[in-house]
Amino acid sequence: MSSKATIIQTNDSTNPIAVRFAHVTKTYRLYKSDRQRLLSAVWPKTKYEKVEANNDLSFTIKRGESVAFLGSNGAGKSTALKITTGVCTPNSGTVEVHGRISALLDLSVGFDQLLTGRENLILRGHLWGLSTSEINEIMPEILDFAEVGQYIDQPMRTYSTGMRTRLGFAFASSLKPDILILDEVLAVGDRRFSAKSLARMQDIINGDNVTMLFVTHSLDQAAKFCKRAIVIDHGRLLFDGPIDEGIEYYSKDSSS
Ligand SMILES: Nc1ncnc2c1ncn2[C@@H]1O[C@H](COP(=O)(O)OP(=O)(O)OP(=O)(O)O)[C@@H](O)[C@H]1O
Ligand SMILES: [Mg+2]
Repeated sequence: MSSKATIIQTNDSTNPIAVRFAHVTKTYRLYKSDRQRLLSAVWPKTKYEKVEANNDLSFTIKRGESVAFLGSNGAGKSTALKITTGVCTPNSGTVEVHGRISALLDLSVGFDQLLTGRENLILRGHLWGLSTSEINEIMPEILDFAEVGQYIDQPMRTYSTGMRTRLGFAFASSLKPDILILDEVLAVGDRRFSAKSLARMQDIINGDNVTMLFVTHSLDQAAKFCKRAIVIDHGRLLFDGPIDEGIEYYSKDSSS
């Protein structure tokens, strides 16, 4: 299948545009079973259903904006964030991203369960373009914030869900990114950690010109951190505007 999507990715953090989607569509194929999926490799006529996870999605996020993505389960929020980070490629449309991204997506993305927490941090740090000494420099701060104790030298498969999130958040938020992408990460930690994370997010947003894309089901958090909301339903953009109107729109929509 040839992809008609155009992806433009630069590290130019002076570009007034941070993220731009133009007519972005992402379609998943749903086969009846894994067997059918395998079969489709040799038998193109194998039946499947199409799921339009993102459907003709267009928006522009300016440098320094914090935008909340609202929508019901399955609406397409995570798909849009995954496309922004490059974890997932759209079928068509144009995606433009300017600046270095630090993202905390689903907990399953990014950590190698067989490596220790420390090894994962080093690996991710290198992937982000940090040198070993730069990683060593930020390591104590990450460990201090994550509070996973001696587990840092244990394989990550032995971590609880909360520990994984704490380490992920501590790392993603210590990178001083141009664009910070958070997908429902604050829902998993315990109360104390949530409070700590919220304070750190506020710090990051107050910093110079950080752009944030924030998925949450907590409308309070959306209102606290974002001036703008994008409401998505069935992969389509329903609303794009001020946060209070977005929350009202979404609350009305989801209660009917
Ligand atoms: N890898 C995949 N294969 C098939 N379908 C997928 C895949 N990933 C997502 N989908 C489907 O795409 C649609 C959008 O999913 P997405 O994860 O973007 O929703 P979401 O808005 O993040 O939902 P939630 O609030 O539950 O996290 C859903 O119907 C989902 O089932
Ligand atoms: Mg999601």
